[in-house]
Amino acid sequence: MSLLSIKRLTKSFGGLTAVNNVSFDVEPGQIVGLIGPNGAGKTTVFNLITGIYRPDQGEILFDQQAVSRLPTHRTISLGIARTFQTIRLFQNLSVLENVLSGRHCLMKSGVFSSLLHTPRQRREERAALVKVLQYLEFVGLSDQAEQLAKNLSYGNQRLLEIARALATEPRLLILDEPAGGMNEQETSSLVALITRMRENGITILLIEHDMSLVMRVCENIVVLEYGSKIAEGSPEEIKQNRRVIEAYLGTEDEE
Ligand SMILES: Nc1ncnc2c1ncn2[C@@H]1O[C@H](COP(=O)(O)OP(=O)(O)O)[C@@H](O)[C@H]1O
Ligand SMILES: [Mg+2]
Repeated sequence: MSLLSIKRLTKSFGGLTAVNNVSFDVEPGQIVGLIGPNGAGKTTVFNLITGIYRPDQGEILFDQQAVSRLPTHRTISLGIARTFQTIRLFQNLSVLENVLSGRHCLMKSGVFSSLLHTPRQRREERAALVKVLQYLEFVGLSDQAEQLAKNLSYGNQRLLEIARALATEPRLLILDEPAGGMNEQETSSLVALITRMRENGITILLIEHDMSLVMRVCENIVVLEYGSKIAEGSPEEIKQNRRVIEAYLGTEDEE
């Protein structure tokens, strides 16, 4: 049974069809890549999955439940977490506080109990802190917990976004260009991190321009061009697909 099922998804902005009748599935435990030239509609698919946009047509099933009309906070509580193409951190908060903000999505205490500092809320806060430190350790940022987010290197800010997403305890993690702005060494550790997340039972859907990363970590790849799916298959199949070479790899070479 698929964890995520995208069915004939269509989304237009004015006259532009950003996503055109796209279907694909993500199986539990898979690492799936969504690739395609700039403007192909990749981020729009992510925004549809996470409830930022509503589809014009089509459906998104997460664990068999329709999610395409749910608000973002509901998709998070169902177990979908994401990072952003353009980093969205609380730049003036610490690394720890940023991850804690992800954790707060899960906490039961309401606004009143947090104002009143009830025992339940204090217990939850303590437990959250322990978890947050574990996530920072997991992504390799525990020695920078007290730093302000804005003082981290670009690559580490990307890791911090992943830690914040992990703090919501997702079953599906979607990463929008996680290696963007990373150097070679950072990209290698990102590959290792992605593999470790999958070993921990997290299913991963990622958009990435770095083809060697995509080919190394993804077992299934979906290719978009001008909003439409033009290919899907294993890295080997995608590498040899003529339409993909023309549409995507071809334009990459010219740049
Ligand atoms: N909110 C929006 N309003 C208008 N056009 C948008 C909006 N979001 C995306 N688009 C357009 O949809 C197309 C696909 O964009 P996007 O999904 O960001 O592509 P990708 O992530 O593959 O580079 C682009 O032409 C983009 O300009
Ligand atoms: Mg994008």
